[in-house]
Amino acid sequence: MAVIQLTQQERDMLLDAARKALNRAYARYSNFKVGAAILTEQGEVFSGCNVENASYGLTICAERSAIFTAVSATSGAKLAIRAVAVVNGDEVPCSPCGACRQVISEFGENAIVIFIVIFKGQHSYQEMPIADLLPETFRLF
Ligand code: THU
Repeated sequence: MAVIQLTQQERDMLLDAARKALNRAYARYSNFKVGAAILTEQGEVFSGCNVENASYGLTICAERSAIFTAVSATSGAKLAIRAVAVVNGDEVPCSPCGACRQVISEFGENAIVIFIVIFKGQHSYQEMPIADLLPETFRLF
């Protein structure tokens, strides 16, 4: 399926879900709270937050937390992601890390990613297809 642009209502709803998830972040080591929400091709919304660990490397990002929650809650057809929104408590520019881009790509080769950027000195949101954020994603088959 090709990229399907979001309506303003879908965009607002997804950003709102990501902001709500942000409040549940467990970020006691970095104090950088992140919330993410995904919209599936079936119109369902799942959200997640970053969950840190005393053994820092075990931390999971908000985006993967949302996606793994969605997979765990979905039976039958493979999860199909249409869009992902990611926000942070500091309202600073923050696009998904490389690991999360690979995972988004696994479940949504045409997913739209919404993230915070600074535009003309003001914080704003940018939308980019995952294929632009991670070209030549790794695939086994
Ligand atoms: N983090 C995310 O949740 N998503 C990202 O895309 C980048 C980083 C989290 C991981 C860690 O808990 C904190 O931000 C600081 O790196």
